[in-house]
Order: sequence, then structure tokens, then C-alpha cells
Amino acid sequence: MAAEKIAVVPGSFDPVTNGHLDIIRRTASLFDRVYVCVLRNGAKKPLFSIDERMDMIRRVTGDIPNLEVESFDGLLVDYARDKGADFIVKGLRAVSDFEYEFQMALTNKSLNPRVETFFITTSRSYSYLSSSIVKEVARYGGDISEFVPKEIEKDIIEKIGG
Ligand code: PNS
Repeated sequence: MAAEKIAVVPGSFDPVTNGHLDIIRRTASLFDRVYVCVLRNGAKKPLFSIDERMDMIRRVTGDIPNLEVESFDGLLVDYARDKGADFIVKGLRAVSDFEYEFQMALTNKSLNPRVETFFITTSRSYSYLSSSIVKEVARYGGDISEFVPKEIEKDIIEKIGG
């Protein structure tokens, strides 16, 4: 029997957006098993705790049978190795994402040559979307219903103090 194809979808997910969810669902349809992993991005100061972020992702992915949501305090490649995952999948929105994502993919490849990074281009309708934009709109009382799943809209508004 062929080995299971296991992928990690990593990110800071602060909070998860419809754009992330689109990438997560498409990844789950391509691989046997998918781990969505909440990690630290040293360049960002998160609004939500790791547990809050995992909880929000779990609530909006509960219907995906081959998916688990976890967190890891360390290098992404070490997490992938622990899970037996040979694939990292990330969404790519625009040229502006490319340089940073390319740098991370090459770093991860040199840290663990077994791991391949795959990029999925974000659906056109979400190409402008980011967690930062969602937080910015919510902070000023704007409507975020188009940007995030219904189940977590309230969490974001309450956290930001709406
Ligand atoms: O959603 P993000 O913020 O673009 O995700 C970036 C993330 C969290 C995947 C990245 O910062 C990461 O992999 N952090 C874990 C630490 C690590 O492995 N760093 C080396 C990769 S350059």
C-alpha cells in the first residue's frame, strides 16, 4: 500500500480568515491527512492566544474528517518531522507574498530536505484578504462578515472590544 500523503498547513491564523479556510479545505481534498498547525511568527505580535486561535480553527473545520488542528512552539520542519509529514502547504496571494514565502520555503528545505513546500494560489475573491485587514476593519466597527466564517465573527468583535 502506498504511504499516506500527509501535509501541514502552517500559519499564525490570528485569526483564521475565509482565505485561510479556502486553502485548508483545498489542501484537505488533495492529501490523505492534514495538520493545521498554529505556530509563532517571530515578526508578529498576536492578538489571540494560541488556544483561542486553535479553537476558532477547530470550530470552522469540524466537518473535515482528515484534518487535525494543533500548535507547536518550535520550528515548522521539526513539527512536520514529528507528524511524518513530507509536505508543507501555504496559500500565495500576490507577488508581495512571494519573496517572504520563497525565503521560508528554501530555509525549511535546507533544514529538512525531505519536506516539499507547495503553494496554492488563493481564490480570486480572497486575494486581498489578511488577518491584519480583518482586525483593522473590526477595530473601527466595520462589517467583517465577508472576511471570516460566521462562527467566529463574534469572537473577533468581542476581542477587539466592539
Ligand atoms: O501565517 P504566517 O504568519 O505567514 O505564518 C508564518 C509561520 C508561522 C508559518 C512561520 O513564521 C513559521 O514557520 N514559524 C515557526 C518557526 C520556524 O519554523 N521558522 C523558520 C521558517 S523561516
